[in-house]
Amino acid sequence: MADEVAGEFDYDVLVIGSGPGGYVAAIRAAQLGLKTACAESRETLGGTCLNVGCIPSKAMLHASEYFDAAKNGMMAKLGIKVTPELDLDAMHGQRREAVKGLTGGIEYLFKKNKVTWLKGRAHFEDARKVTVGEQTVTAKNVVIATGSSVTPLPGVTVDQKVVVDSTGALELPKVPEHMVVIGGGVIGLELGSVWRRLGAKVTCVEFLDQILPGFDGDVRKEANKIFKKQGIEFKLSTTVTGVAVEGDKAVLTVEPAAGGEASTIEADCVLVSIGRRPNTDGLGLEAIGLAPNKRGQIETDHDFRTSVDGVWAIGDVIPGPMLAHKAEDEGIAVAENIAGQHGIVNHAIIPSVVYTWPEIAGVGLTEEAAKEKGEVKVGKFPMLGNSRAKTNHEPDGFVKIIADAKTDRVLGVWAIAVPAGTMIAQAAQAMEFGATSEDIAYTCHAHPTHSEAIKEAAMAVRGKPIHV
Ligand code: FAD
Ligand code: NAI
Repeated sequence: MADEVAGEFDYDVLVIGSGPGGYVAAIRAAQLGLKTACAESRETLGGTCLNVGCIPSKAMLHASEYFDAAKNGMMAKLGIKVTPELDLDAMHGQRREAVKGLTGGIEYLFKKNKVTWLKGRAHFEDARKVTVGEQTVTAKNVVIATGSSVTPLPGVTVDQKVVVDSTGALELPKVPEHMVVIGGGVIGLELGSVWRRLGAKVTCVEFLDQILPGFDGDVRKEANKIFKKQGIEFKLSTTVTGVAVEGDKAVLTVEPAAGGEASTIEADCVLVSIGRRPNTDGLGLEAIGLAPNKRGQIETDHDFRTSVDGVWAIGDVIPGPMLAHKAEDEGIAVAENIAGQHGIVNHAIIPSVVYTWPEIAGVGLTEEAAKEKGEVKVGKFPMLGNSRAKTNHEPDGFVKIIADAKTDRVLGVWAIAVPAGTMIAQAAQAMEFGATSEDIAYTCHAHPTHSEAIKEAAMAVRGKPIHV
């Protein structure tokens, strides 16, 4: 198939964007025998995730977790006396090394799989002709995987010095005295945690009445309690109406979201993290008659086809959670669909993880959403009852399983636990196989592991956990 098409077009598949959606799509397409190119305007491959997102944030979270453990008493609890000294340059250095290693790794994988990297910004001339930098190429199929960028806050200028977005917050040259995080979502909590651990006072201003929208209600409340205990101050139901910068200080004007008297907060660093928006500017979508929806996203069908023949889209630029693993799975599926196979992504079972301490994870429906669909049974098990968590001095959190009251089928699993991000994989897999809570309760889990809390929560659905 590839050879037959290659005569007519320069490529069978051109992927625009090399984030986790785009690079995975390109590699999978090449593995399936399609002549593939990937256009990327950044200096390095890997998109937001590898360059300024998942990977560098986890590098800072991991390193700052050790510092926090040494500084704030966890090491002492374990009988280890240490007086830590922060070497922020070295911490940033190991972050940059991690990014360099992994982005270089994608370049290696492109070479290995014979994917051509077309360097430069891409825009459509027509549905099968795309200009990338100085050159114009043709492709039988074009996959838009251009990702997303930070949503700006009207009236607030990000200068990457005093007012930063997530990219600036990864690079701060010194620990701020007072960081104000605008938005109590995933980025605000992860990067707020990094700088709190390294010594900053952190205040989080959230427009809604609770942090982490989209997560289960119990989880949101408990997470808020845990972060408060760690020292983050929250101003919920509060909106930022202005940020004035003078020299190296900022003054934020905040108001109750419901209206009322304004007040001010002083800070030496402001992180704007109120969400991300799809990247479609400058792509020339008008040249192919493709209009984004009201939220700026490109709509596709279940197979990731857009309304324009030969043009497909995946990742952050299409509807759904803006997550790297969702983009990756869509990358594999779109390549398989282009090759005439049956690529499928089950959007009902995409785990979400916040990589704080403890981690916060969930998959499937929240209790609130499940109850809207019908009667449910809920089992909850506290980490305090889990022998491994207790031994490790990690008492915070719980696992919660929501099952259909009639069929017992698991509808959602939520966890706050130090390794919740790893634990949630078994829940996703069980749900993918249509497991009931009984199936999980009667699956042997190794002891002593945090994952036993999942088994116990499943037993709690039937009212019979052992260790509480
Ligand atoms: P992107 O990764 O955004 O990649 C798109 C690429 O396309 C970019 O490199 C861009 O330069 C390129 N591009 C855009 N337009 C053009 C054009 N016209 N021509 C050529 N190239 C173009 N998700 C998780 O699942 N786990 C995490 O822990 C996590 N942490 C995050 C932390 C931060 C601070 C941020 C900002 C995001 C995080 N995310 C995380 C989200 C994750 O990064 C995104 O969901 C993911 O990168 C989306 O992948 P994508 O392939 O759709 O797009
Ligand atoms: P988010 O959507 O997670 O959170 C934004 C928060 O800002 C929300 O709580 C919202 O109510 C609040 N908000 C919006 N406008 C506001 C205003 N004017 N004032 C105060 N609060 C306001 O967005 P975030 O944290 O910027 O992350 C963007 C995306 O990146 C997310 O979709 C997330 O999926 C992805 N991401 C994923 C990570 C992970 O998987 N661990 C880590 C970091 C980012």
